[in-house]
Amino acid sequence: MQENQVKICLSLAGKTIDENLRILEQYRDKVDLVELRADFLEPSEKFYIRIFPEKARIPSLLSIRRASDGGKFTDGEGVRLVLFAKALSYARSDVSANYAYVELEDDFHIPAIEEACRTFGTRIVRSHHYQKGLPENLDEALAALSREDDEIPRLDVAIQSSGEALRFLRWWIALPPAERIFTLTGVYGLFGHILSSRLGSMWTYARSRHPSDASDRFLFDPAVLHDIYHLREYGPQTELYALLGQKSIAASLSPLIHNTAFRTLEKNALFFPLVVDRIEDGLALLELLGCKGAAITVPFKEDVLPYLAFRSTDVQRIGACNTLVLRDGAWAGYNTDADGFERSLMQFLGRTDLEGMRATIIGAGGAAKSVALSLYRKGAHCLILNRTIMAARELARKYNFLYGHLDDRSIDLISSYSELIVQATSVGMDSEDDPLNFYEFKGTEAVFDLVYHPPRTALLKRAEAAGCQVTNGYRMLCYQAAGQYKLWMNEPPPEIYAHIEP
Ligand code: ATR
Repeated sequence: MQENQVKICLSLAGKTIDENLRILEQYRDKVDLVELRADFLEPSEKFYIRIFPEKARIPSLLSIRRASDGGKFTDGEGVRLVLFAKALSYARSDVSANYAYVELEDDFHIPAIEEACRTFGTRIVRSHHYQKGLPENLDEALAALSREDDEIPRLDVAIQSSGEALRFLRWWIALPPAERIFTLTGVYGLFGHILSSRLGSMWTYARSRHPSDASDRFLFDPAVLHDIYHLREYGPQTELYALLGQKSIAASLSPLIHNTAFRTLEKNALFFPLVVDRIEDGLALLELLGCKGAAITVPFKEDVLPYLAFRSTDVQRIGACNTLVLRDGAWAGYNTDADGFERSLMQFLGRTDLEGMRATIIGAGGAAKSVALSLYRKGAHCLILNRTIMAARELARKYNFLYGHLDDRSIDLISSYSELIVQATSVGMDSEDDPLNFYEFKGTEAVFDLVYHPPRTALLKRAEAAGCQVTNGYRMLCYQAAGQYKLWMNEPPPEIYAHIEP
């Protein structure tokens, strides 16, 4: 256990006390304290908030969040005051039966309540919820929450952009150590959610993925923080690696893959998502956080090129970079996609080369460029089909391949390039769209769809039904990740990457 051990606070938003206790039981061994969000309770249940800490048997925090602060409570300040008074009264000598913490907003000062907290050992968390982005003056915002020495200031900010995340982080890391809780919400704040203790927050919040959770704030499930990010096991020495991409990476499988590998190999390293809207913000955040490397994904694989001090041969050939390694204080750029695809493809086909094979590549974007390089290296002759013919032409010319339109004008061409069909566009990702719906499978084609979510796209289902051998892009994802491991750790990629299941 590290000295600055991460604390995970399970935020409970059930409608009844019993429901909350049931949720707590699912996670008890993964969390350090619980927040009872009393504003989510049904009216009759609110009378019983006093007994919650005793029943929960874990340090408990009480919050009754008003609608104006993003909560559910609309009954007015008089009623809220009575609820706080009820919850904090009749303090017991066994302090574990009392609330350990209570959250009071910076405009809620009731001396009798504060006095009761101080007398019976309930710590006050003094909060402000900024729901529309960062306050202009962060020093003033923190000062307003820090008037009493024995209170814990809590700044909660719904981060709106990576520029805001950067401004907040620059300010945060320059602060002297003190007891405080900072919560960055929204996808741009995900990194703060995971790195909160490293950055000096007393705890990070997690929420059960539960049907009654109507909140759209992005909170991880405690099991995700515990089982994927191993939050309780990292400390100041942990090496950081980030996944740099846009909003969709919040659901990426890469953190599961890398963190499972790091853990299995006892590497003191953590891989986390860093959502940005500009590559410049991403690079500045990587530097501020002290990251040793990064995985770069859509749409930044090309945007990052001007910032690289070194570009590998594959980066130069593909024109895109998916891996950064910090070397002598500058970023070296690599691309592990072509190798990852190649390994997965050879395994799928059970071959070591593709000399003379005729293959069709669907798409001419970043992913298709890696596929084309890999098929060229293995000796295949390819046909590239793309919605935008100019992009197909440009890619085809590089390797002396054929190209065509992604529609029924190309049917005859596909028929003679159909030993292998590789789908390398994003079409079919989380949808039922089939980019090859004009083509009827014969059953002899091997079909590789780079999309892995859903595991079987409409295209793969159709191919499989026709008797084709099919696979998706999940193993490619694992193998390109293995290539990243090799670059980051400077050692052969471990076999574990071939066996991690989604
Ligand atoms: P990636 O890096 O994931 O490959 P990309 O570079 O944006 O992403 O490339 C996307 C590929 O998917 C391109 O080949 C694109 O075709 P265009 O060049 O015509 O844009 C293809 N694509 C995206 N949406 C498509 C759609 N609805 N129908 C057909 N092709 C599509």
